[in-house]
This record gives sequence, C-alpha cells and structure tokens, in this order.
Amino acid sequence: MGILHGEVEGWACDPEHQVPRLDFELTAGCDHKCGHCYNVWNASADDPQGGYPKGQLRGPDFIQMMDKVVGQSGADHITITGGEPLLHRDAMDIIKRATELVSTVQIITNGSHITPAKATDFKRWGVRSVQLTLLSADAAEHDRLKGAECFADTVRAALDLRDAGVPVQICFVAMTENWHRFEDVMELCYVLGIRAISYNRMSPTGWAIHQIESLLPMVEQVEANLDSAERLGPKYEIHVSTAMPIPPCLIRLSRYKWVKFGFCSIGTHTPNITVDAMGNIRSCNLSSNIMGNVVDADWTQIHADPYLHTFKSKVPEMCRGCAYETSCQGGCKESGFATYGDLQHPEPFLYLGHNPEARAATPTDGLVQIGDPG
Ligand SMILES: C[S@@+](CC[C@H](N)C(=O)[O-])C[C@H]1O[C@@H](n2cnc3c(N)ncnc32)[C@H](O)[C@@H]1O
Ligand code: SF4
Ligand code: SF4
Repeated sequence: MGILHGEVEGWACDPEHQVPRLDFELTAGCDHKCGHCYNVWNASADDPQGGYPKGQLRGPDFIQMMDKVVGQSGADHITITGGEPLLHRDAMDIIKRATELVSTVQIITNGSHITPAKATDFKRWGVRSVQLTLLSADAAEHDRLKGAECFADTVRAALDLRDAGVPVQICFVAMTENWHRFEDVMELCYVLGIRAISYNRMSPTGWAIHQIESLLPMVEQVEANLDSAERLGPKYEIHVSTAMPIPPCLIRLSRYKWVKFGFCSIGTHTPNITVDAMGNIRSCNLSSNIMGNVVDADWTQIHADPYLHTFKSKVPEMCRGCAYETSCQGGCKESGFATYGDLQHPEPFLYLGHNPEARAATPTDGLVQIGDPG
C-alpha cells in the first residue's frame, strides 16, 4: 500500500464534515495500574460513566475501520493511544498503516513495550513523536503512582527512541502526591535530551474520580509548577504545553510567557475526536458518550450527532458572561460529568479550586490502583 496522505482509496470526504485529526485507542488493555488513569471503561458500574463497552477489533479489521474513518473524515494527523496501544497484537501493522494514511503520527505509550527494533521502525515510518509519562525522577515514587515497575523501562524507551532519532515528549501528570517532583522531572528530561513536556494537571474521569481527594492537585500546587516551567523551561530549552485546561479564573495565565496553554478542543477547528478499539466515536478521550460506530455507520452521520453542539453550549452557570467563556468553556466539562453526573456542574479542579472545603465530600476510595478490589 502506497503513501496516501489526504485521501484514502475507496473513501470520499465531505468537506463539511472534515476534521484535521483523530485519536485511535488501539486497546482498552493495559499492564500499568495508574490510580489517576482517565480511561472511561474503568469507571465503576454505578459511576456516571459506568457501563462503557470493552472489546477490540483484530488487526485487519482495525485497519479497515481506520482507512474508512480517516478517508471519510479527511483527517491528516493520527494520535495512537489506549489503554496501552503496544499491547494490541497487531499494533505495529496498525501504526505502519497510520503513517501511510496521514502526514503526522504521534504515539502515546506507557513505555514498557518499546524496543530498539520498534524505535527503528517508528523512525523508518516517519512517526513524528512518541509521548512517554514520567511522574517523578525517583524510580520508587514513579512506580508506586503507576502501580507497575516501569521507571527503568521509561528511561530505556526514551534512550532507544533518541538513539533511533525519534523525538520524545514527556507527559507529567500533576497530582497532590507528585507535584513537588516536577522540577526533578524537568531536570531528568534535560539530561535525557528531551525538550518537550506536556504538563497535564490531573483531570479525573473513569476510575480516577474515586481518587480526587487523594490525587487531584490543588490550585497553588499547579501554580508552583507553572512558575517552575517558566523559570527552568528557557534555561533547559524545554517547551512546556498544557494538555488539560487550566481555568484562568483560578490562575492568571498571562503571567506565563513560556508555557503554551491548551483548552477544551470541542467546538474548535481541531477537535480531539477519539475512535476506540471497536470503532466507537467519542468527542474526546475523556468522554464516555458514544456518537456512533464507524464500522456500521458513515462518518458524516456520526459527525452530525448533536452531542458536539450540546456539549459546547453547556457551560456552568458561573461561566456565563465570563470573558473566557468561549475559550475556556469551564475547563474540562467531561470530568464534571464523570464526577457529578452533570456536564454543567463545575468540574472538580474548578469547583474545588473555588470551594476547597468541599474536597472531602467528593467520591474517593483513597489511593488505590485501577483493577484493585478497592
Ligand atoms: C490514558 S494514557 C494512554 C496511553 C498510555 N497507556 C500511556 O499511559 O501513555 C494517555 C495519556 O494520558 C495521561 N493521563 C492519564 N490519566 C490522566 C489524567 N487523569 N489526567 C491527565 N492526564 C492523564 C497519561 O500519562 C498518558 O500520557
Ligand atoms: S494512564 Fe496508566 S493505566 Fe492508564 S492506560 Fe496509560 S499506563 Fe495504562
Ligand atoms: S469560563 Fe468559567 S472556568 Fe473559565 S475562567 Fe471563566 S469562570 Fe473560570
């Protein structure tokens, strides 16, 4: 199969329903047990997001599904994620095909399954970058928060990718347990030759809503991290961007010139539309609302689903008339739904930022990893 980029043989794109990018979750399976993991299929049955279906297409069927949705949506960037994407037995075939379909491919992986041979393949296929997660520069602390012995794997993966010439980005998920390790992680990135960090203040969906009291960072902790990024970023030449929205009513973002802030992508020109391992389409990774399945239906029909407009129009009451209403949109509203069962309830970081005394009243099971009996 040749390089296609822009159009996929056999499929036509309706420009009215074109999107620039798609995220593919190759599998729901994972061998790490991060307590903060936002994957929606890990929600308990009686949580607002409970009951999300699990399953996955085999390699050839996945590729057929990917060809169809990329061809019909006109997407020209793919992010490969999961669960742990490299645990799909046909992951390498799927990733290779992704690089043939679109101009840029990013892989988000827990790092435990990268080998020098895979890193070389990624380079050969033109993978743009690989994102790994570092929660601490201290191996024991990183492993404790990940529920797996994986710090050494992550460092080895970073070096394998670097040696193969594949750019690496680090994701730091800021939580009450590790926010104070952010500077150490920046320093480790510098030593490893990594020059890009995605700073994710924890955004709870899935099982993570049960970890709010023990893990959700406080506003002042995130602010301290942003101060560190602003000070050390230029010194180490490490670009820092934020993937999870940080509401400007909690932190004055204009103080930070080095940090690139991102907000909820729904309703923008670059929505983060997500395709799960069975071809179900959602508005983003943190949403459990299935708009349709692209194996059965056409993209135009799924993309016309009213959810995208309904979601955009629903903002918390406190946000009405705010100068940032259209850009910030109330932070991460899916985490508001996952936690409180209401898209218009201020999401936990926003709500607890303004009402710190309510923290102890949020659903919590103490620090336990997903898959633990609780
Ligand atoms: C859900 S994981 C899936 C891919 C792969 N298993 C991994 O961990 O990289 C995708 C990314 O989301 C980050 N992440 C997971 N839970 C998060 C949360 N509650 N808030 C912010 N980022 C989170 C992870 O660190 C990872 O970079
Ligand atoms: S965030 Fe952790 S538990 Fe969730 S998919 Fe990634 S490695 Fe697995
Ligand atoms: S839109 Fe809402 S969450 Fe965002 S800054 Fe305004 S009041 Fe805060």
